[in-house]
Amino acid sequence: MNISVEKTLAEQSILTAEQVVAAFAEVRAQAETDLRGVSNEKQFEEFRNHWLGRKSGVVTKITDNWLKQAPTDLKKSVGQEFNKFKTALEALIEERRVGIEAGAEEAASAKDRVDLSLPGVMRALGSRHLIRQVFQEIEDIFFSIGFSVVEGPEIETPYYNFEALNIPEFHPVRDDMDTFYMELPPSSGGKAAPGQLLLRTHTSPMQIRTMEKQKPPVRVIVPGRVYRRDNPDATHSFAFHQVEGLAVDTDITFCDFTGTIEYFVKQFFGPSVKTRFRPSYFPFTEPSVEFDVSCVFCGGSGTTSSGTCGKCKGAGWIELFGAGMVDPAVYGFVGYDPKKVSGFAFGIGIDRLAMLKYGIDDIQAFFQNDVRFLKQFP
Ligand code: PHE
Repeated sequence: MNISVEKTLAEQSILTAEQVVAAFAEVRAQAETDLRGVSNEKQFEEFRNHWLGRKSGVVTKITDNWLKQAPTDLKKSVGQEFNKFKTALEALIEERRVGIEAGAEEAASAKDRVDLSLPGVMRALGSRHLIRQVFQEIEDIFFSIGFSVVEGPEIETPYYNFEALNIPEFHPVRDDMDTFYMELPPSSGGKAAPGQLLLRTHTSPMQIRTMEKQKPPVRVIVPGRVYRRDNPDATHSFAFHQVEGLAVDTDITFCDFTGTIEYFVKQFFGPSVKTRFRPSYFPFTEPSVEFDVSCVFCGGSGTTSSGTCGKCKGAGWIELFGAGMVDPAVYGFVGYDPKKVSGFAFGIGIDRLAMLKYGIDDIQAFFQNDVRFLKQFP
């Protein structure tokens, strides 16, 4: 730009209206050229300051040096040209502002745009807990011989957990089971308090609940969680899992009982495993037995290459579960005729079974939910 806005028009020998028009045309052309070089918000701000800045912007200088200093006969045309120039400049600036903002938005949205061809975020899929898997294995085995599955409450009344199972109050077997009682709120709204409640110590209460509901024949298994006042160590936990079994009909014998158990054990551990039972005692079965399997770690020999087998402690047998023929006294609690029906029941400790089958040496691993452990059983 040859013309200067720092000097007055007279100083630049601009003396006629035509020259004034030409001078403004030159300034305007400069503004247009400058504006063409503006391509982002920062440059736009700089441009605006240079041209419209209040103290030393070009427009201010034109006002001060050209307009205010114009001789009287030129004042009118300088004023007119100045107004035209200012309107044009503002229009140009506005147009550019819209363009720049749109560009910025486009850039921003390009940044946020989702690329559908990229691979997605893979979230690791969980798997069933080993205890659930073992429940399922056991259920499948018993399904195949005509049992069905029922489940029951973990919070029980002493009646179902003890009395109806022929365990009266003060019976010594309660000692290791008399454990987690609930503190109940006092009765409200005229309703009687529900009486004492406890966390069930075994799945056997479901024997009673099942027989109360249905007439023989009964063939059920009951998978579930149970609770006892055991201090946690490698083989004890205050919560663990059982599968209860109950079969009652008019002609069930001890042979049906041992045959069923043996079938289950061989299905679960494999055909080479041997079983035996020893006399035991449960108030709700008579006779009662304890079922053992030949040790799956030493093949029943009691010894391994490194000496005495640590799992069965040299015995060659591992205690697996309690069972027996249903005590006739129990039928009295559920309205069955003990002269007409007979049956057997068993209670399998699932955590133990899973530990044996999968070589786990600490029951706590089932409850810690450490993914490094869980991942080994997908
Ligand atoms: N409920 C017994 C226990 O938890 C096991 C059992 C079940 C025994 C059924 C006999 C019959 O120890």
